[in-house]
Amino acid sequence: MNEATLKEAHILMVDDEVATTCLMTNFLNRIGYSKLESINDSTRIFKMIETFKPDLILLDLAMPGMNGFQVLENLRANRRGENQIPVLVVTGDASAENKRRALCAGATDLLGRPVDPSEFSMRIRNLLQARFLRLEIQEQNHFLEERVRERTSQLEHALENLETAQRQRVQQERLSAFGEMAGGVVHDFSNALMSVIGYSEMLLSNPEKRGDEATALEYLRIINTAGRDGAHIVSRLRDFYRPRGESDMFETLDLNEIISQSLALAKPRCAQRESRARIHFETDLDGSATIAGIGAELREVLTNLIFNAVDATPGEGVITLRTRQHDGEVVLEVIDTGTGMSADVRQRCLEPFFTTKGDHGTGLGLAMVFGIIKRHQGTLEIDSEPGAGATFRIRFPISSVNGEAVLAKRAA
Ligand SMILES: Nc1ncnc2c1ncn2[C@@H]1O[C@H](COP(=O)(O)OP(=O)(O)OP(=O)(O)O)[C@@H](O)[C@H]1O
Ligand SMILES: [Mg+2]
Repeated sequence: MNEATLKEAHILMVDDEVATTCLMTNFLNRIGYSKLESINDSTRIFKMIETFKPDLILLDLAMPGMNGFQVLENLRANRRGENQIPVLVVTGDASAENKRRALCAGATDLLGRPVDPSEFSMRIRNLLQARFLRLEIQEQNHFLEERVRERTSQLEHALENLETAQRQRVQQERLSAFGEMAGGVVHDFSNALMSVIGYSEMLLSNPEKRGDEATALEYLRIINTAGRDGAHIVSRLRDFYRPRGESDMFETLDLNEIISQSLALAKPRCAQRESRARIHFETDLDGSATIAGIGAELREVLTNLIFNAVDATPGEGVITLRTRQHDGEVVLEVIDTGTGMSADVRQRCLEPFFTTKGDHGTGLGLAMVFGIIKRHQGTLEIDSEPGAGATFRIRFPISSVNGEAVLAKRAA
């Protein structure tokens, strides 16, 4: 702290003796202090403090009206926060008792008169130095508090932005998951529609089939199954926002029956393929292939795998559907003798929207297949080489229920 700053201090003298305040004023002027005020009526001190804003008070003790002790007590009572003005008591009676009382009442320091000029000057200097340092610290504290407030508000703002961005990201992810799922629903729903349209057209355009009650009934049953499967597929849209509840039951199903139904359902679409006349379907079914699951979803798996196998068989070929039991599992294989897959296609074929069929494929079939297998706690293996056909091997746990429905356990 430099000397010039100290000399800018405001010093207030409070003494009933005019001669004493004049003496002190002269002395202080001499040693460089110019911002001085004095009062001889101590009751005016508080008014003076408000207007003059002293950095130091030089206070007499024995005064009429309000003595020095009362002034000190009042100063202490009126003190605001940490901003205490130092008080140097300058008294003609510096007895031990007066010193003790004055210090107890809040005096910062005390000097007896007559004062030694150099000691007086040093004491004033020390008190002012301490005062200015304290003010500086206070100012720094305020500055720091202000900075902390600013930073806190910036951080709060940043946090708000982050939370908004996070909410938007989650929303975005949900939207894209919804888009993916909706695409899958459209994909599988149109498969189901193909069966409905195909079989109803066969009935409509063939009066002899309508006339044969057994055939008509069989077609109607297939149409009915395809319609119900379509309703199940569409319900996935609702399940997206309202997760499945306890009403979603797995039933005990005969996988072999699901295979025959799927072959029948796939027939109209397979019939559209030019090569179909040269594709031979074979089934190699184990006597007992009981699993727990949702029939509509398992038919979706099979029709998708059959369509893919047909698409991969441009010329002659065999598509085999096989079931067997192995190590507590039901193994279902869809085997074709088609074009097969490169290592890259094999690795990517389960990705949603991955297709090698250009505009003819959505790339959602196997993604749906994989999701359904997972929901049924099954696993999927794909064996394929270019030119050597493909085998899709699915393993399901054998149903542990006998004719009873079990709760759908969703795979993690
Ligand atoms: N049996 C198969 N033989 C050879 N490649 C296959 C076979 N099954 C699937 N693939 C490959 O995996 C890709 C992804 O199959 P996915 O069923 O997901 O979609 P897609 O068949 O192309 O389209 P969509 O199912 O809408 O018709 C196919 O484009 C094809 O390249
Ligand atoms: Mg497909």
